[in-house]
Amino acid sequence: MAVITDKYGRSFSTLRVSLLHHCNLGCVYCVSGNDELKQANASGKTDTMAADRLLAMIDRLHRQLQLSTIRLTGGEPLLYPGLVDLIRGIKAIGISSIKLTTNGFLLERLALPLKEAGMQSINVSLDALDEDVFFAMSRRHSVDRIIRGIDAALAAGLNVKLNTVAMKGINDSQLLPLAAFAAERGLKIRYLEVMAMGHLYAQADRHLLTRDEILDILSRRYVLTPLDREASATARYWQAQGGPVIGIIANESEPFCRDCDRLRLDSSGNIYGCLSSNHPIALGLEETEEEWGQRLQQAMAQKQLVRFTGSDLSMLQIGG
Ligand code: 5AD
Repeated sequence: MAVITDKYGRSFSTLRVSLLHHCNLGCVYCVSGNDELKQANASGKTDTMAADRLLAMIDRLHRQLQLSTIRLTGGEPLLYPGLVDLIRGIKAIGISSIKLTTNGFLLERLALPLKEAGMQSINVSLDALDEDVFFAMSRRHSVDRIIRGIDAALAAGLNVKLNTVAMKGINDSQLLPLAAFAAERGLKIRYLEVMAMGHLYAQADRHLLTRDEILDILSRRYVLTPLDREASATARYWQAQGGPVIGIIANESEPFCRDCDRLRLDSSGNIYGCLSSNHPIALGLEETEEEWGQRLQQAMAQKQLVRFTGSDLSMLQIGG
């Protein structure tokens, strides 16, 4: 079977699956307001794939690509009804590394079952510790609940990382408290430059805190020593002296397209080779292996060479 690569040596070894596109938070970087969220949630509920169909697609992609990692995202993946069985199924397919990105809202109850089903690592999005700032970011009140979820995940033996989207004028004050929180629990924390997606397409700059600005804020409290970058990683890492390992996902300041190894599958069975390109490529289970090979090559051709160019779709729709 032909291995899918491009002339820059990129191949697909990580699959990100958006299980559904609804969510129980209404974060400002995903939706413009509760109305947009309501709309997404109404259509999202009917727009998910049953686990057996999803598993059949993942199985086939794995056989064609020999995936090393699968990451489940959404919307909010913990809202997927058959999640625990799905993870068992993915494990049975033979993908060795199973990860998930969640907002943590439903994590307390699900952490142990997820771990027992074969999940190894989770990224929990946490944009603030202060309840008012958290509300300004997510339009919900749930900091305590998410912290309980994080602690349940740690108690279950999951490998946990924190993701914080840094937004100028909204959660600047939270970057240092979140670093201290991560250090207390021995967690890595990654700060994300805000990306021009969905309703922010034309105006993410208004809220962009750049990598250097994020580093300036963190340097008020910590001496930071850079660590080596791993191939295909989205984040660059620093060890904060007396603090946590800090990552920055600098999509704008330091794009990481050059060795991107990610393929995305959405909840309707479309694949995408790149977040910048929203052109969905439909995969049908009745199609031949050769046709899948062509679709995958098409997805590979979507990859940007230099930088992310923005997207009409938010991560609620296309997955994180
Ligand atoms: N810009 C930056 N990060 C975003 N995320 C979702 N939307 C955006 C955006 N527009 C974050 C989520 C999650 C991670 C996968 O991406 O909070 O942690």
